[in-house]
Order: sequence, then structure tokens, then C-alpha cells
Amino acid sequence: MTELITISTISTISNNQLKLVTLNGWLYNKRGSGKILFLQIRDGTGFIQAIVNQNDVSSAEFELAKHLSQESSISITGTINKDSRAPFCGHEIWVSQIEIISHSQDYPIAKKSHGDAFLMSNRHLWMRSIKQHSILKIRASLIRAIRDYFDSHGFLLIDSPIFTPNACEGTSTLFETEWFNGQKVYLSQSGQLYQEAACAAFGKTYCFGPVFRAEKSKTRRHLNEFWMVEPEAAFMDLEGTIQLAEDFLCYTVERILNIHEKDLTNILERDLTIVKNTRKPFPRILYTDACDKIAKLGLEIKTGDDFGSPHETELTKQYDKPLIVTHFPSKIKAFYMKKDEFNPDFAKCMDLLSPEGYGEIIGGGQRENNEQTLMIEMQNHGLNLKDFEWFLDLRRYGSVPHSGFGMGLERCLAWICGLHHVRETIPFARTLDRMNP
Ligand code: 4AD
Ligand code: MG
Repeated sequence: MTELITISTISTISNNQLKLVTLNGWLYNKRGSGKILFLQIRDGTGFIQAIVNQNDVSSAEFELAKHLSQESSISITGTINKDSRAPFCGHEIWVSQIEIISHSQDYPIAKKSHGDAFLMSNRHLWMRSIKQHSILKIRASLIRAIRDYFDSHGFLLIDSPIFTPNACEGTSTLFETEWFNGQKVYLSQSGQLYQEAACAAFGKTYCFGPVFRAEKSKTRRHLNEFWMVEPEAAFMDLEGTIQLAEDFLCYTVERILNIHEKDLTNILERDLTIVKNTRKPFPRILYTDACDKIAKLGLEIKTGDDFGSPHETELTKQYDKPLIVTHFPSKIKAFYMKKDEFNPDFAKCMDLLSPEGYGEIIGGGQRENNEQTLMIEMQNHGLNLKDFEWFLDLRRYGSVPHSGFGMGLERCLAWICGLHHVRETIPFARTLDRMNP
């Protein structure tokens, strides 16, 4: 009787110990010579070592395996053997049949190291390599953890639009396009304003989607298209939103560590000591005290200046946990920020800075809920009140204190994974000098 052959994936290979299975995938790498070849196979769900022994296959198949080129697609059949020493997944497959699906010629990404620009130009292929594969899997888990947190904490998902008639985060970073009637329309910089409407209708809401900033910044922390999650809650003050940010970050980081600790340490070689320290409460510091501290560390800063990357980096080096900086000068913050009652030069806002120099990952605070004060602030920011009538309505019909924040997915992921540049945390990065592939 012939044995029934299971078609398996690498991720479920442990269910098939000592069984004959077929795997469909691609050749990742190859070594060995003489009578035995070691093929590294990837199938999208994982990586496994396949062993081709000359005695176990036909001579044509052995020749095929011997000349197989990187990234050729193949179908292999063999017996699964559990071996803790086996690379990748603790299992290996002893091949009895091998078939080529499609030949790959001169795959551009060789095993030698390539420059960043070359790899980014080949992003459509680079995402097959084991580190990039890991990062994008962790990204998917982080997205799931974020959604799970808000879905299970009473926040309703209310999607904000992407085409918007007005600015949220300053007029200088708007991507502009044209609506049907020739009217100017912009790509959203943040879904916040719409969440303010939504939280007055549903209490606690969040949106999670791509946002766009025409920032001409060429730093390792800036993308022109990135993903932001933005919770907003009615009857919540600055303190409430700080506690929400702390609880949320602890939950999501713990979820990622539970699922991906091995990927992080073995594949991305991330030292997780500080990431594991994400336990609330986080240290807090007032903006003015942070300025003093930064000045003492030898960097130039005047009260009233915004922090630059070097300031954030030096400041956070002093802590082994995320740091919360509150009460920035109102002047350098967005029009919607509520001013502190006791010291109106400062806003009831907070930035959560990651440890280890990855910069601001969360920004938020309490919103101005008085119509008159808000209108004055909008005028000071050069905004056209006509575009914001709907937003002002929220202050006219049962205005309540409310607060929220935004977390940049890529900044958070870059920190968790320990990546130098955010461009590796998004499948296809859009930056000042790149919008392809
Ligand atoms: O501090 P930001 O600009 O805040 C807002 O947009 C608020 N409307 C959010 C809110 O309160 N609902 O941006 C929030 C976060 C930052 O902390 C950072 O993580 C990320 O978005 N971010 C960027 N990430 C990548 N590239 C950029 N150019 C980014 N700009 C901001
Ligand atoms: Mg900010």
C-alpha cells in the first residue's frame, strides 16, 4: 500500500514527526558537496534544512539539487526528523523526491552584504530574507496586539477618513491633492479630529490606519507614510491618557515578547533587557525639568525649544524604561492642546519617549474643549475657521473634557526590534528619497 503524503507547511512541521510530507517553497541557501547536500528551504511560514543524500534520490534529482539556484521554487518530499541541533526550527527533512517549479536566475540579493539603498530598491525581494521576514511577522503581531488591547478595553473602532479638508498637525506637512470640483483636499496627518467627534458619540473610540506627512526629514525616525493608532476618550483628562498609554504599551510589549522572544533574540539579535523592563508606572518629567537635564548633559537647549533627536536620545539614555515628558510649551504644540490652568504657557500634553534612543513613540494629551479658546488658538495657527465648523460644533453641543494619544506603529516596532531605521519596519517604505518599489 502506498503511504498517503501530507502537504505540510514549515510552521506546522512538528505535527509530522517521522512522517513523509511534501513542502512547497523556495531555495534560500545551499551548502555541502559530494554525496550530501544541505538545502535551506523557506516556504513563507518558516525556514527548514532539507538534507539530500545521494543514495535516497535518483541521480537526476541529485543533479538537480546540486545545481539548484537561490530562490528557485521547488517542491520536496521527505521524512521529517526532530533534532534540536537542526537550524531554524528544530526539525529537518530528509529528502526522497525533489521537483523544480521555476528556476531563478541571478537572484540579485546574494549572501554577501549589500548597501541600504540597494536593499531598499530590491525591497520586493529583500522581504524574503530571514531578518526582514521576522520583522514583518512581528509587525503583524503588534497590529493584532494593538487592536486586541483597544477592542477588549471598551474602545470602539471608528475609522477616520484619509482625504481631509483641513490640517491636524500643522499646515507645513500636508500632502495636497485636488477634489473633483477643483477644491484642495489633503491626505490625513492624523485621525484625531474625527476621533474627537467619535468619542462624543461612543465614549471611547480608536482609529488605526495610515497617515501622511510631507516632512522633508531624512532621519532614521521619519517616514512620509506611516501607521498610527489613536485612541480618544470622553471625560478623560491628561492623567487618564498617560495611564492609558502606560497600560497599553505594557500590554502590547508583553504580547510581542510572549510570541516572538525567539525571533527577537535569535534572528534579530536584539538584547531584550530594557524592552522587558516595560512595566508601569513609567518615570515622568516636566518639560522644563527635562530642559535643565538636557542642558546639564552638555547639549544646547533653551526653554521654549522643541526637542530634537539628539536631545531625546541623551535624555532617555538616563532611564531604563520609557520616559513620559509632560507640559511642553503651548507655542510649539498643535492648536487643539488644552493649556494648563495654572500655567497657560504650557500645554496639558505628553510625549512618551522610548528608551535606548528610538525617540518619541507616543504623543498626546488633553484637548481644548472651550469653543472661544479653541477659535483663538486656531486663528493664531493661521487656520481657516470655516473648514473647522464641524470640529467647533463638538464644543457647542455638550462639550466635555476629553483626551487621547497617537502611537506611531513603526517607531514602536523599530524600538522593540532594535532597528536602526524605521524604513525596515514597514513593508514598502515611503521616504523623502523613495517611493518605489
Ligand atoms: O506626535 P504626533 O504628531 O501626534 C499626533 O499626530 C496626534 N494627533 C496624535 C493624537 O493625539 N491622536 O504623532 C504621533 C506619533 C509620534 O509619537 C510618532 O510615534 C509617530 O506618530 N510619528 C511618526 N512616525 C514615523 N514617521 C513620522 N514622520 C512620524 N511623525 C509622527
Ligand atoms: Mg509628537
